Amino acid sequence: MAGRSVVVGVGHYLPERIVPNSEFEKTLDTTDEWIRTRSGIERRHFAAEGETTSDLATKAAEAALADADLSADDIDAIVVATSTADLTFPSAATMVQARLGMTKGFAFDVQAVCAGFVFALSNANALIVSGQAKRVLVIGAETFSRIMDWTDRSTCVLFGDGAGALVLEAQEGNGTSEDRGILATDLNSDGRYKDLLYVDGGVSTQSTGHLRMQGNQVFRHAVEKLTKTAETALERAGLGNSDVDWIVPHQANIRIIQGTAKKMGLPMENVVVTVQDHGNTSAASIPLALSVGKQRGQIKPGDLIVTEAIGGGLAWGAVVLRW
Ligand SMILES: CC(C)(COP(=O)(O)OP(=O)(O)OC[C@H]1O[C@@H](n2cnc3c(N)ncnc32)[C@H](O)[C@@H]1OP(=O)(O)O)[C@@H](O)C(=O)NCCC(=O)NCCS
Repeated sequence: MAGRSVVVGVGHYLPERIVPNSEFEKTLDTTDEWIRTRSGIERRHFAAEGETTSDLATKAAEAALADADLSADDIDAIVVATSTADLTFPSAATMVQARLGMTKGFAFDVQAVCAGFVFALSNANALIVSGQAKRVLVIGAETFSRIMDWTDRSTCVLFGDGAGALVLEAQEGNGTSEDRGILATDLNSDGRYKDLLYVDGGVSTQSTGHLRMQGNQVFRHAVEKLTKTAETALERAGLGNSDVDWIVPHQANIRIIQGTAKKMGLPMENVVVTVQDHGNTSAASIPLALSVGKQRGQIKPGDLIVTEAIGGGLAWGAVVLRW
């Protein structure tokens, strides 16, 4: 017997406003064609004025709870992965907790930028496996539109806003790779690469700042590190690449997604792709893709999924789970 964290609910929320690539042609020296071919992005959602990360997170959480047929009272802990919380403190997670009407349990944020959801899942799994929580809401939510430099064509066309959520529940498994739930995780970071992707402001420097990225340098690291972390997590689960039903990657760039699938020896038919509709929603992209993948009928109970992500830090990692 082995304690497992099993996904019993999934949901997402996207802000109403959809912005197609063509909108950037009006203000920047760019084209729909360039954005599509270099990144795979066709459109993204942007939060309305006054709409915050915890607003998006709460709606995604409500959708996941409804999918699980559970109420907030059934939840012991909330973990929100975000780099764009409403306020410096308290955490977005405690705001979601209050909005859901939860007065017990505990809530906290995890900040690992685009790898945030993988870090949050791994931490939530540790809480469940160690017996500290029975049911955990794991949310990825971002409003990256708030930290864009709208004059920088190399970054502002790539990101979007949104939120996705999973409900994880403690269940007993047999301790084999046939179990449902999280089977293995792998987390990494290397702060020597902090200048490749960062926000040039923060509380301690008394500014909000804007996202800065050396896109081609991040690209150089991405495929290799993502393939290695995915394969490490699979190996820890006692599985190989050929066992994978779905790669659910962080949705930053279609060329990174294709490159990683190719290096893993898997066809694109085994990859859930949403980058065309959402852009890069940072920590929200994986739970959004899981939710959309289920809605599309791609992800089914029993499927073996590997999620992988890389982002600022650099921080990267992977989670292997059976749906
Ligand atoms: C950002 C990214 C799409 C750029 O694609 P690229 O092929 O690497 O392009 P480069 O950065 O080398 O730039 C090539 C040219 O396009 C130009 N360019 C950049 N953004 C542009 C835009 N929106 N429209 C038109 N041209 C643009 C650059 O100025 C550069 O021009 P130059 O050659 O005259 O200097 C790509 O590097 C990428 O996706 N990197 C990974 C980023 C990422 O996923 N980050 C998030 C991780 S969480």
